[in-house]
Amino acid sequence: MKHISILLIYICILISSCTKKNEIIIGTVELSNSKLLLTQAADSLDVPWDLQYDKTNNYIIFSEIKGNIKKLDLNDNSVQLITAIPSVFQQRTTGLLGMALYQPLQSEHYLFVSYTTKTDDKIYSNLYRYIYKDGTVKNPKLLLQIPGNTGHNGSRIIIGTDKKIYWATGDAAIDANAQDITKLNGKILRINLDGSIPKDNPTPNSYVYAWGFRNMQGLTQGENSIIYTSEHGDAVEDEVNLIQPLHNYGWPLIEGKNPPKKETDSTKAIVFTQPLQSWTPVIAPAGISYYGSTKIPEWRKSLLLTTLKSQSLRVLKLSEDGKAIIDEYTLFKDQLGRLRSVLTLPNGDIYFCTSNRDWNPQKGFPKPEDDRIYKLSLNEKAIGKIFTSIKTTSAPVVAELSGKNLYEAYCASCHKSDGKGIMGTFPSLEKSTTVNGDIKTLSQIILKGLKNQTIDGVKYDAQMPAFNFLKDEEATAIINYIRSNFKNQASTININQFKQTK
Ligand code: HEC
Repeated sequence: MKHISILLIYICILISSCTKKNEIIIGTVELSNSKLLLTQAADSLDVPWDLQYDKTNNYIIFSEIKGNIKKLDLNDNSVQLITAIPSVFQQRTTGLLGMALYQPLQSEHYLFVSYTTKTDDKIYSNLYRYIYKDGTVKNPKLLLQIPGNTGHNGSRIIIGTDKKIYWATGDAAIDANAQDITKLNGKILRINLDGSIPKDNPTPNSYVYAWGFRNMQGLTQGENSIIYTSEHGDAVEDEVNLIQPLHNYGWPLIEGKNPPKKETDSTKAIVFTQPLQSWTPVIAPAGISYYGSTKIPEWRKSLLLTTLKSQSLRVLKLSEDGKAIIDEYTLFKDQLGRLRSVLTLPNGDIYFCTSNRDWNPQKGFPKPEDDRIYKLSLNEKAIGKIFTSIKTTSAPVVAELSGKNLYEAYCASCHKSDGKGIMGTFPSLEKSTTVNGDIKTLSQIILKGLKNQTIDGVKYDAQMPAFNFLKDEEATAIINYIRSNFKNQASTININQFKQTK
């Protein structure tokens, strides 16, 4: 016994001597030549949403969805509240979201923040500018306010190399916004630092820089000032896009690299820009950060992408000119939970955060001390648990045509693996009247999606997307799976019976 405790003390001293500044060692990521130490820099956070680096003070400034702006001092890894914004409206995915810290050499420093508010039953997305100095903020100024919704508020912000604000807005759950050039939703907006419209915008007197987006959750700028975004598709085709002025990225007329859903004369006339990469089944891509440092040679010229549904960090290796994705690697799959945001420091260290206390927790999460901010940095030797990065050769395919696999790929992110959903957000499919009921109604819900229902006395304001892309045999397998699981005991059907319900 005594020996064990001495050994434990010895190990503790050993570990604490390896970690600086209260970092907890989690393990090592082994790449082909480099080793990266994974440490935990902060815990017990509540849905950190955006991470920014204060290069003057060596702080990470981060937002928490309910309205806090906090700082993580990298000199000792202490966390302090900078300010709590009382007017933030937080429900489901709304709240205090994207931020951008701007620290020019000569003039005042600014922190730009995007958050939702609610006035007289109307939700808005707001772009505010604070004066920022050494971990404090003051004098908020509203630069722009646009319609918001309970979902699809986009909100990432960057300050481009041209000293303009780029604000990625969501379609506010109204598809048509994205193709309407007069609306500011579903767009990349280009804005002067004081909120006015830049004189050199591609359309005179308009903030609109690029259009045709659903709900972007990541925005970054790489070499040669190339701007990249990540975006949530509905039931299919999550995307990473390369943004060019006045290009149309297609939502809701096309998704991913597919042809237009409905070929009409007007859609034939539009030129759509395809994503660099798209994913079906969806991965829910979130924060994205360009990695240009030589510190981790294997990752130089990559996009680092955090994902929520697929609970992983992706490394998207870019071509030399940055205009194509040539390789994809997946790290930490299902091990740390939902990952929301990622930040690359000028010295090549990487910080990223979890989102395990948000509206859509995954199986086994949140852990008691979630949410956390993690750090990845180059290290000489391997310590602790070993993580490997797995090369994704092509979009993941649903290996086997079993109802269970298909349900996991397409339905479980919302209705959960056990079918119990989340009360008030995603209805339970357990002992469900609809699932056990008439086949035609059930099949129409799956094919066309559903919105604005009151189920068992509870109103659902989240929407179910349409799954009309499923093959007949896939839809049949899913229907049979949900009708004979989750305490449902309805008859199964064959593919011909399914076809008659279309
Ligand atoms: C993005 C989240 C999401 C995904 C993915 C999803 N659903 Fe849903 N589903 C919902 C929501 C939200 C509702 C309730 C909609 C409403 O009431 O307006 C719903 C409703 C339903 C209902 C009706 C429940 C009732 O009691 O009336 C069924 C059945 C259903 N979904 C089955 C499925 C199946 C099968 C899949 C996979 C093919 C699936 N859903 C995928 C979000 C989702």
